[in-house]
Amino acid sequence: MIRINENYLKLKASYLFSDIARRVTAYTTANPAKPVIRLGIGDVTEPLPPVCTAALHAATDEMAVRASFKGYGPEQGYAFLREAIQRHDYAARGCPVEADEIFVSDGAKCDCGNIQEIFATAGTRLAIPDPVYPVYIDTNVMAGRTGGNVDGRYAGVTYLDSTPANGYVPAVPTVATDLIYLCFPNNPTGAVATRAQLAAWVAYARANQAVILFDSAYEAYIRDPAIPHSIYEIEGARDVAIEFRSFSKTAGFTGTRCAYTVVPKSLLAYDAAGQAHPVHALWNRRHTTKFNGVAYPIQKAAAAIFTPEGQQQVRAMTDFYLGNAALIRAAITKLGFSCVGGDNAPYIWINVGRDSWEFFDLLLNQAQVVCTPGAGFGKCGEGHVRISAFNSRENVETALARIAAALKR
Ligand code: MLT
Repeated sequence: MIRINENYLKLKASYLFSDIARRVTAYTTANPAKPVIRLGIGDVTEPLPPVCTAALHAATDEMAVRASFKGYGPEQGYAFLREAIQRHDYAARGCPVEADEIFVSDGAKCDCGNIQEIFATAGTRLAIPDPVYPVYIDTNVMAGRTGGNVDGRYAGVTYLDSTPANGYVPAVPTVATDLIYLCFPNNPTGAVATRAQLAAWVAYARANQAVILFDSAYEAYIRDPAIPHSIYEIEGARDVAIEFRSFSKTAGFTGTRCAYTVVPKSLLAYDAAGQAHPVHALWNRRHTTKFNGVAYPIQKAAAAIFTPEGQQQVRAMTDFYLGNAALIRAAITKLGFSCVGGDNAPYIWINVGRDSWEFFDLLLNQAQVVCTPGAGFGKCGEGHVRISAFNSRENVETALARIAAALKR
C-alpha cells in the first residue's frame, strides 16, 4: 500500500495565494460587472525592458540556425550570465563572490523551497520570521522538520517575531538555531535591515555554526544608500550565508522565469560526526541532478539587464513601482493607518488594527481591491494587510480612491 508523506497533512489545505485567487474568482464570478484591481500577489504588470525583448528575439533567431542552435546548457547557467551577475551585483559592491558560486535557476521561490533538502531533517533547528513568505515554512513542514500546527504555529520552530515594537526587523534569538531564514527588503512587510542588524545575524550564525538563507529578491528597490543590497556586504557572511536573487521583481520576469542563488565555496555544514563539508558541492550535486538549466534565450534576456541601457531600463521600472508605492503609502497614511515599507520595497504593510481576513473581505466587497491578509503570512501578520505596488498607475490611483470611499462609508 502506497503511503503518503504525512507531513503534508500538517499544512493548511492550500497555499496562501491560491486561497486568495479562489476567493477573488468567486467574487468576480458572482459580480461580473464589478472589475477587481489586484494589489495582492506581487505580480508585475509592466512589459519587459526593451533590452530584454531584443535579446530574446536575437537568441530565438540563434536557435533557428544549426550553427548557433543550443541544446542542453550548463545546469548552473551560462558563463556569460554568471560572470555578468558577478561583476555587477557583487564585485561592484565589494562583495567577495565568484562567478562559479552563482547558480542560475528558474526562480527564487523554487530555490528557497529546495535548498532545505541539503540539510539534515532530524535535529536541524529552524529560525523563521513571522510574518513570513510562506515558502520558507511550508517546505520545512513538508520535509518533516517541524511538529504539528498548534494555534497557528508549527511546533519546534523558533519564530522571529516582526512587530511594530521592533520595527518589523527581528533581533537575533536568545537560543541557538541552525537554519535561519531572512528576507530583506522584506516580503511581506517591506522593512529593510541596516548593516548593523545584518552584522548581528552574521555574528550569530558564525557563533552557532548555523546557515543564513538570505532572500534578497527585492534588493533592486533599495534607494537608501546606507542599506546593504547583499548579505555579502557584511564581513564574514561568505562563511555562513546563501543568497537568493531573482529577475522577477527587478526586471519584470515573473512570467519569464530567471533567478539565481549564491552558494559560497567557503560555506560549511557538518555531518553527524561533526566533520565539515562544503555546501557548494552539495548544492551543485542537487542542482545538476534535478535541474537542466534555464532556457538560453531567457538567460540572454537576463544578461541584457547588465548592459548600461539595461541598467537604465530596470531602474526606470523599479522607480515606476516605487512611485506607486509612495502613492499607496501616502493615501493609506492619510486614512489614519500606520504602515511600513514602500520606500525601499514594493510592499506596504498596513497596521489595520482588526482581523486581516475581515479587512481583505471589506476591500474586496466594498472597493473591489485585492490585498493580502497579514494572517496568511503568520500569527504576527494578524491585524495587518499587505498592499503590493505592482500595477499600472491608473489602477493604483483608482484602487486608492475606491479604498478611501469604502472606508468612509
Ligand atoms: C508575493 O506576492 O509574495 C510574491 O509574488 C510571491 C513570489 O514571489 O513567489
